[in-house]
Amino acid sequence: MLKSRNMEQSFTPGGPRHVAIIMDGNGRWAKARGRPRLFGHHAGARRLREIVTACPDLGVEYLTIFAFSTENWKRTQTEVAGLMSLFKRYITKEMQAFVDENLRVRFIGDRLRLAPALQDLMDNAEELTKHCTGVNLTVALNYGGRDEVARATKRLAKDVALGKVDPDDVDEETFVKYLDTYVLPDPDLVIRTSGEARISNFLLWQSAYAEYEFIDTLWPDFSPEVFAKLLAGYGVRDRRFGAAPA
Ligand code: FPP
Repeated sequence: MLKSRNMEQSFTPGGPRHVAIIMDGNGRWAKARGRPRLFGHHAGARRLREIVTACPDLGVEYLTIFAFSTENWKRTQTEVAGLMSLFKRYITKEMQAFVDENLRVRFIGDRLRLAPALQDLMDNAEELTKHCTGVNLTVALNYGGRDEVARATKRLAKDVALGKVDPDDVDEETFVKYLDTYVLPDPDLVIRTSGEARISNFLLWQSAYAEYEFIDTLWPDFSPEVFAKLLAGYGVRDRRFGAAPA
């Protein structure tokens, strides 16, 4: 069990504050064992728990994970239903542990397409952990970067129509306030497991200056040791955000 504590300092020297992960490879992991895809997703959920638990000691203050994309509805009905029931079970089971571990949970994505029972659990998890000051876990569920930008634009357009926002005042700073992630810092490091080198519509706006790590490890094999190694590697990078070297 984790100690609860405030995330006031980083414990990986020069390490990233905000890490975002595309947890890929559950299906291949299961296939390699002759098991159904959902077996891999369950193993992935157990791995996620371990990674979240490792965050405070690694100095990761924000962890954002891609659990279900706006494109994942195209999977078989069995897989989608299995994933939805896994999310419900996971939130229900882990809720008290999140509070005990001082972990603040948030969800991003279009939750209106999700089942009302799942939406209620998500709302409840956010409400119950809103006082927590430890690791910020953000779960992207029915999330797509383009969809997020489209939804943000729609809300902004409504505010313009209502006269709340002057179109001439719209700039990057105004726009980010309409994104699902408006309370989060941008990710410093985006990791994708399973050997695919693409970002699949994840945090498109927010990752403009992120560093990327694409690694071959399948998500259910992504251990805290592998995670720690990637974070240590990040510490030696020179991030200039478009500026020239000093
Ligand atoms: C991608 O692997 C994984 C997903 C679409 C689901 C991610 C979900 C989990 C890790 C379960 C735990 C999450 C929560 C929030 C409880 P894939 O199925 O595309 O793998 P493949 O590319 O090998 O087929």
